[in-house]
Amino acid sequence: MAPNLENILLKVSKKTSPSCEEKSHLLALADKLKQRVEKVIKSKGIDAETRVEGSVAKNTWLKDSPDVDIFIRVPLTVPLEVFGTLYLNVAKKAMQGAKQIERFAEHPYLEAIMDDVRINIVPCYRVEKGEWKSATDRTPFHTDYVKPLLDKELCNQIRLLKQFMKGIGVYGSEIKVGGFSGYLCELLVLFYGSFLQVLKATSNWKTRISIDLEDHYKGQEDKLNQLFDAPLVVVDPVDKKRNAASAVRQECLDELLAATRVFLDKPRIDFFYPSKVKPFTIERLAQTMNKRGSNFIFIKFKGIESVPDILWGQLYKSQRSLRKLVKRYDFKIIRDAVWSDEEDLNIFILELEQLQLPLMKMHLGPPLEKQSECERFLQKHIASTQTLSGPRTEEGRWIVGTMRRYTNAVKMLQVKLKDGGKGVGIAEFVSLALGKTFEILVNEEIFPTYSFSSNFARFMTEYLQGKPIWLA
Ligand code: CTP
Ligand code: MG
Repeated sequence: MAPNLENILLKVSKKTSPSCEEKSHLLALADKLKQRVEKVIKSKGIDAETRVEGSVAKNTWLKDSPDVDIFIRVPLTVPLEVFGTLYLNVAKKAMQGAKQIERFAEHPYLEAIMDDVRINIVPCYRVEKGEWKSATDRTPFHTDYVKPLLDKELCNQIRLLKQFMKGIGVYGSEIKVGGFSGYLCELLVLFYGSFLQVLKATSNWKTRISIDLEDHYKGQEDKLNQLFDAPLVVVDPVDKKRNAASAVRQECLDELLAATRVFLDKPRIDFFYPSKVKPFTIERLAQTMNKRGSNFIFIKFKGIESVPDILWGQLYKSQRSLRKLVKRYDFKIIRDAVWSDEEDLNIFILELEQLQLPLMKMHLGPPLEKQSECERFLQKHIASTQTLSGPRTEEGRWIVGTMRRYTNAVKMLQVKLKDGGKGVGIAEFVSLALGKTFEILVNEEIFPTYSFSSNFARFMTEYLQGKPIWLA
């Protein structure tokens, strides 16, 4: 290994691996919390078993962002309806005194903060392997699968990979990111053998990649390809029907591929620890936007009350619909984005070539050999009040200049979104929020919002720079 690369990996290992004291401190905390939950369970006479799961159980957590996952395994006799709420109450009681946030994935669970450590208390069913009843039932099996395969060095390699993914912004399976979960990083290191081997392999990934650690589909690769429709398939070793990489979006995969190539060519520590983008001053923002000569439309609306995964799912869906809508009326999109503070404010950004189109647009008619269609075309357009020019023939077919429905992108959006835009594919909660009120801001009209929210300012600056942080 090149000395520079070796040096970097050594440094990152130091920064990501907890010291012996830190390790025993966190494990003691996890154990204490586990016991607290157990005590509540016992006092209520509930039949359940408690386990520490996730990266703390596997010794793969990142030193500066430990998150303790405590799972309550309940018998199958507990009905789904009580499953969440009953154990939420157990968790709340056990975490008394700590800051508590109720979360919701498929079922409610509790997040608590204690000694600056995030603690998730999650219920799951105590099932036999394969008889999954809720989404979290596989987790204990993940721990049991991964743990015996790891040694100290592999844990180090996993931490390197997690930190690399984090640094380039593709770590996490939540909808907002659409990237690589901790478990997936573990599986990749187990499959390829080390951090560098994972990077070398990914830098060469071409078409769809399938990884099947336990040879669940040996000799049945066709079946595997049929079963999973995702850019990256990593068959979950504990469940052959599940793709452990199903959350990975194509964009994240592309970003990883591109980043690994640059990193392997010229390794730098800032892939792991990127410096924070400093927002442009308003003057610089104005200059940068002006220089592009493009036009920005910002659709700004109030917060939506829902958990981040649902919020981001809805924002991304609506973003795709907006993109389609704008294109349908002939406006050319340069780029678009969506931002949310996940509380009070959401903003869609549409960067267009032009806000205004001419009233006349050319509408192609049928080719001359199709006689009856030509007749119908002429009938429709000759005397129409919408016709501005023609019809006439051009390159073997009829063509007519007609009036556009919308010549201004902002006006079009105002009309289409007035009722929330459900009809044009805006997702339900976003539509409800838009239906109440929204603002459309054009170009410099965004400046007050930019000054108001440093978080948005950073996002907008990154958008304008338009280049990944790791690309020096
Ligand atoms: N899990 C999963 N798939 C996901 C998210 C979570 O299978 N998309 C399971 C894994 O078994 C994981 C556990 O839930 O180990 C806990 O999730 P999480 O805390 O997100 O992952 P960790 O492995 O603990 O990694 P981190 O260090 O980021 O906490
Ligand atoms: Mg965790």
